[in-house]
Amino acid sequence: GAIRPRPTPWWHAPRERQRLLELAEGETPRYVYHLPTVRERARQLKAITAVDHRFYAIKASSNPDILRTLAEEGFGLECVSLGELQRVFAAVPGFDPARVLFTPNFAPVSEYEAAFALGVNVTVDNVELLRQWPEMFRGRTLWLRIDLGHGDGHHAKVNTGGKEAKFGLSTQRVEEFLELARVLGVRISGLHAHLGSGIETTAHWKLVVDELAGFARRIGTVEVLDIGGGLPIAYSADDEPFDLDAWAEGLAQIKAVHPAFRLAIEPGRFLVAESGVLLARATQVVEKDGVHRVGLDAGMNALIRPALYDAWHDIVNLARLHDACDTDFDVVGPICESSDIFGNRVKLPAATAPGDAMVIADAGAYGFSMANTYNLRALPAEDILDGPSNE
Ligand code: LLP
Repeated sequence: GAIRPRPTPWWHAPRERQRLLELAEGETPRYVYHLPTVRERARQLKAITAVDHRFYAIKASSNPDILRTLAEEGFGLECVSLGELQRVFAAVPGFDPARVLFTPNFAPVSEYEAAFALGVNVTVDNVELLRQWPEMFRGRTLWLRIDLGHGDGHHAKVNTGGKEAKFGLSTQRVEEFLELARVLGVRISGLHAHLGSGIETTAHWKLVVDELAGFARRIGTVEVLDIGGGLPIAYSADDEPFDLDAWAEGLAQIKAVHPAFRLAIEPGRFLVAESGVLLARATQVVEKDGVHRVGLDAGMNALIRPALYDAWHDIVNLARLHDACDTDFDVVGPICESSDIFGNRVKLPAATAPGDAMVIADAGAYGFSMANTYNLRALPAEDILDGPSNE
């Protein structure tokens, strides 16, 4: 069928484009985030009435302004490490620990201890944890992460369900878990299943609600079904934008079948991916054996998604926005690895030249948060733009 158009990127607006060009005069590469876009995505999710609890998975971007913005929009915050927990309370002073969810996997046991001390909600995802440290868990109210035996996602590396995934309690061991929980006086108030990231199958979450509800009934004390994150965005013009209405409709239908439970979601990407760009400058333009390459001062250390998942990000020459994009360039970084490529045969203006300000689009999720200093290249800076659409 026909592909619905993607939303126009915020940086196409003259004021924002100008601001990016000014920022590119300073140090590059840098991530720039547009808070009105974050608010807009937050409000789209808040409008979905079938969902009772919304947590933002801060691993997508733990930028303090983004955390404050989403906290103001009423989102809870989902963390997977002690570092992330500490970031939340540093960025949003006085944030209610009851609105924080700690969902670690194979974390040092000291981090669970710290989470209990902070008073946040803790999710466990195996039996062994309770068996080996019974005193830490005795009498607690916990959430339980289950592996429903199937996963999904934009790449095998982000699929978190099934036998080969390290996440979640096997459905085969639920009875064993419950037996031990009974002995320890542990009460399970939430059931969780995050089964992958960038999931295109709208029906996925409906199925997850249905399956979790079955386990919740057996457990008897469960109030919340947390169906995780995984909502995709359209990174390329060929991607169908996620049908949020169909997703919401599916959740409303399945919730009507299981009215006893509240629904929780924990999206990361959907909320912040489109709000962020990686702003870089062209370093060198080189031809070799008929292949034209434009180098950026940002490398796979600044944005690892293309190298790690063959992920597509639109790349635009901001300095020559109105020139025809008629020439193929491989867009590469300065890192000494062959995987240091942002895109093969990307259409860019023929006149693309060293010094041009370039934008790598939709980099707000898993961009800065996965950046590193490989080759001793500095971490990118981060900037926040807020705008007139800020009510
Ligand atoms: N909840 C849990 C327990 C998670 O592990 C994740 C992401 C989320 C929620 C949020 O998922 P999202 O809504 O963003 O799909 N680095 C990869 C994505 C890894 C996702 C890891 N877990 C990427 O850049 O595509």
